[in-house]
Amino acid sequence: MTTLVIGANGQIGRQFCELAQQAGTSIKAMIRSEEQATWFKERDISTVIADLEGEFEHAFKGCDQVVFTAGSGPHAGPDKTLMIDLYGAIRTADIAKQKSLSRYLMISAMRAEKPLEAPEKMRPYMAAKFAADAYLRNSGMPYVILKPGRFTDEAASQKFASSLEEAGDNQVSRANVAHALLHAVQKTDVVNQEYLLLDGKRSIGEIIG
Ligand SMILES: NC(=O)c1ccc[n+]([C@@H]2O[C@H](COP(=O)([O-])OP(=O)(O)OC[C@H]3O[C@@H](n4cnc5c(N)ncnc54)[C@H](OP(=O)(O)O)[C@@H]3O)[C@@H](O)[C@H]2O)c1
Repeated sequence: MTTLVIGANGQIGRQFCELAQQAGTSIKAMIRSEEQATWFKERDISTVIADLEGEFEHAFKGCDQVVFTAGSGPHAGPDKTLMIDLYGAIRTADIAKQKSLSRYLMISAMRAEKPLEAPEKMRPYMAAKFAADAYLRNSGMPYVILKPGRFTDEAASQKFASSLEEAGDNQVSRANVAHALLHAVQKTDVVNQEYLLLDGKRSIGEIIG
């Protein structure tokens, strides 16, 4: 069981890849350039170079499931939000289905289902995540959608909450998201489920069962 990691060179992507490698969970990191490969080679993680804005079907070779943790980032314009967060995610679902992958694990966002409730600047991004999630749910691909809150760079507590009431706050560390993602990747029997992900007090096994 090998997992293609789209967005592997990102902040969550790298932490996830390192955890997966340490856990002996087979992954292939999709990155955008040869320079980025050095960090992965140093950790003996296999890579493939591809871009969501171009052809990336070749990246799926030998992979059984796919993680999407790519994103255009807070400084990109709506054009990149459309092409990466929306259309990149949609094309990932199409290729995954065409290649009969077993699952698509998506890093979405808390409240992606209500874009108009986001601050105005964030609404196009939230609308892209809303539509990408909807497409995935209806694609016929077995899916897991993780909806993290606002990211922090705190160390991993490995303790989680799955509602705002439970957490008392809207944040989650990227390190915790990487741990949750590893758990979800390893729990291959979990399909067609969505989880809000916040820092809290419970183990990930209590949330993603
Ligand atoms: N910020 C938040 O509070 C928040 C909350 C919930 C969810 N999220 C979501 O979580 C995602 C991951 O977060 P993060 O902090 O790890 O983000 P990040 O560090 O910005 O990583 C995003 C990754 O996406 C890759 N990427 C961008 N365009 C691409 C393309 N055309 N083809 C292939 N890969 C591409 C980037 O590649 P390069 O390394 O080559 O640039 C980067 O590695 C975010 O993008 C966002 O959608 C964010």
